[in-house]
Amino acid sequence: MRKLIVANWKCNPTSLRKAEQFLASLPPVLKRKRNIEVVVCPSFVHLHPLKNRFSKTIFGSQDCFWEQEGPYTGAISPAMIKDAGCAYVILGHSERRRYAKETDGMVNKKLLAALDAGLKVILCVGEKEGESINTVLKQQLSRCLKKFSLKKLDSLIIAYEPVWAVGTGRPSKPDNALVAKMLIRRILLGMWKKRVIAERARIIYGGSVNRKIAAGYITEGKMDGLLVGGASLRPKEFVKIVESVRDSG
Ligand code: PGA
Repeated sequence: MRKLIVANWKCNPTSLRKAEQFLASLPPVLKRKRNIEVVVCPSFVHLHPLKNRFSKTIFGSQDCFWEQEGPYTGAISPAMIKDAGCAYVILGHSERRRYAKETDGMVNKKLLAALDAGLKVILCVGEKEGESINTVLKQQLSRCLKKFSLKKLDSLIIAYEPVWAVGTGRPSKPDNALVAKMLIRRILLGMWKKRVIAERARIIYGGSVNRKIAAGYITEGKMDGLLVGGASLRPKEFVKIVESVRDSG
């Protein structure tokens, strides 16, 4: 299975011109490789023009609403994201939970709507400092995946992002990430009752990933990929991350 590397640009950069310049400096790493798939998640407003210009790049959005259309001022629907050429959507990111007060129930509605629209969902879960990882992951996974159809398993990616590691420069160690991955698998097994299916779910790591540690998540941490925030906005650093994952196996 290809390793997935997701670039989450968050609320950056402030102009389309800069976003274009940035993408233009990356083409070699954005090409689909035998063992790697790179997904770029810019701001909503940059999606359409970027897709028009960089048609071969795989894009995702950083969020979406739970209805496809209607009287929901300010909302961006999964159907619109799909129409903009996106293949993926990130949902339940800790910054959405924190600043937009998103709950697991809202994330669940978004997830079902996004899958209905034909998008692949990158579902973020993770504990805050001092919280029980077991309790938090169990709660987030069971609530966010309510009514999830196992037929859509190939369209689901779970991103383990410990909140204390996101944007802090303090990444989780690869062996800790592996422990979290095993825990997620155990929780999924409890929910889905079928080991083969729980083992098929793809799990990636996010939280202060940098070039030095990136490959370790794949080799030691057995992760299926990475969700990269801050480092994805530094072209040289991001290229190194992609290359180190590519060369790790
Ligand atoms: P970070 O962000 O790499 O800057 O910690 C990760 C994320 O937002 O997914």
